[in-house]
Amino acid sequence: MNNFSRIGFILAAAGSAVGLGNIWKFPYITGEYGGGAFVLIYLIAVSLIGLTIFIAESYIGKEARVNAADAYQIVSKSKNSSWKFAGFQIVTGIVILSFYAFIIGWILNYILISFTGFPNDIQKAENLFNNLVTKEIGKQILFHTIVTLTVAYIIVKGVKEGIEKLNLILMPLLGLILFGLLIYSFTLDSFSKALEFMFMPNWDKVNENSILAAVGQAFFTLSLGMAIVITYSASMDKKTNFVKSSIMVAVVDTAVALVAGIIIFAFLFSAGAKSTAGPGLVFISLPLIFSTWGIFGQIVGCAFFVALLFAGITSAVSLLEPPLMYLMERYKVSRVKGTILCSLFFYILGIFALLSMSEDFGKFLTFFEKNLFDWLDYLTSSIAMPISGFITCIFLGYFVDQQELEKKFTIHINKIVFKIWLALIRYIVPIAIIILFLNKLGIIK
Ligand code: PHE
Ligand code: NA
Repeated sequence: MNNFSRIGFILAAAGSAVGLGNIWKFPYITGEYGGGAFVLIYLIAVSLIGLTIFIAESYIGKEARVNAADAYQIVSKSKNSSWKFAGFQIVTGIVILSFYAFIIGWILNYILISFTGFPNDIQKAENLFNNLVTKEIGKQILFHTIVTLTVAYIIVKGVKEGIEKLNLILMPLLGLILFGLLIYSFTLDSFSKALEFMFMPNWDKVNENSILAAVGQAFFTLSLGMAIVITYSASMDKKTNFVKSSIMVAVVDTAVALVAGIIIFAFLFSAGAKSTAGPGLVFISLPLIFSTWGIFGQIVGCAFFVALLFAGITSAVSLLEPPLMYLMERYKVSRVKGTILCSLFFYILGIFALLSMSEDFGKFLTFFEKNLFDWLDYLTSSIAMPISGFITCIFLGYFVDQQELEKKFTIHINKIVFKIWLALIRYIVPIAIIILFLNKLGIIK
C-alpha cells in the first residue's frame, strides 16, 4: 500500500498544520490582543479544543481508511447514509486552497524583492504591498500559476513519493531557518522585551473577542474541519498510536507559532515598531525593518520569506489531497486526471478571488459589500469549519458505539485520559463551538 511511514505521517500532518497561520497570523493577532494573556488563552484553546478534534479526526480516518466523504459513514457502521453529508468538508479545503495559493504567490514576490532590497520608508512599504494586491494582476496570476503547478506536480507523485518526500525535505529546512532566525533575534537587545511581551500576561486587552479569536485560530492552525487530518490518517500505518501522533503534531505546531512570534516581535521591537499592525505586520512592517539592516537584512528577509514559503507549500499540498482521494475512490478517475481537475477548479476560483481585490475588477466581484475573496474566507473559516468540527464531536460523542471507541482508544492510552477526551468531545468542545459560531454570525455578542 501507498501508506505513510510513522514519521512520515507526523511530518506530513505537521507540514499541513504549520503554515501561514503560525508565521503570519498568530503573531499579528497576538499583537492585536496585547501579547501574553492572549498567548495563554490560545495555549488552552489548542490543548483543550484543537487537540481534542484533531484526535477525533485522526481516529475517524484511521478506522475508515477511505476518503473523508465516506469515512463518517463507514465508522458509523449504520446502513443509513445520512452521514455522507459530513463530506462537504472536502469542498471547504479546495475553496481555501484557491486563495491560499495566491497568498503564497505574494510570498514569492517578497523573496524576489529580497534580492534587490526592501522598501526603506513606510510609504514605500505600504505602496509595495497595496499595489501588488490591487494593481498588479498579471504578476499575481503569474505567481498563482507557478504555485498551482508546483502543488499539482507534488500531488501527482502520490502520498509517499510526493507528499511524504516533500515534507521530509522542507520541514527540517523550515526548522533550520527558524532556528537560525531565533539565534539572530537572541542577539538583539529587544529579545527580552519580545519574551516579556509574549509570556507576561497583560489582562488589559483581554475580552470575549480574544477568546473567540484564540479558539478560531486553534481550529485553523491545526488544519481542522477540512478533511485533512481524516485523509492523512487514512494512509496512516495501522499500528500507529494516533493519540500520541496527534499530540506531537500539536506540539510542533505550537512551538513554531511561539518561535515565530518571538522572532517577529524581537525584530519589530528592535526598531521600536508597534505590535498592532494587523495583517500588514509581515508584508509591510517587517520588510521595512529588514531594509534598515542593509545587505544583512536582505539575507535575513530572504530566509524569513523562504520559511514562510515552505510552510505555505506543505499546507497547500494537504488541501489538495482530500478532494483528489475522493474523486479517485468514488469516480475511479486516475491520479493525474483527478489532480488536473481539482487544480483547474481552485486555480480558476483563485483568479476570480484575486481579481475581486483589484481596483479594476473588484466592483464586478463584490456582492453584498464583501468581495469574493472575503466571501470565500468568511464562508470557509467562519461557517464551514466550525460546523464540521461540531459534526465531528457529535458524531463520535453520540453516534458511534462507545464501547468500541473505548476499546480502540485504550489500546494506546489509559482509561482516565480517554474519559477526559470523551467529556471534552461530548460536552465542552461542542458548546464552545456553538458560542463561537453564534458570535461570528453576530447573533450573540
Ligand atoms: N494550518 C495551516 C496554517 O496554520 C492552515 C491550513 C488551514 C492549512 C487549512 C491547510 C488547511 O497556516
Ligand atoms: Na498552523
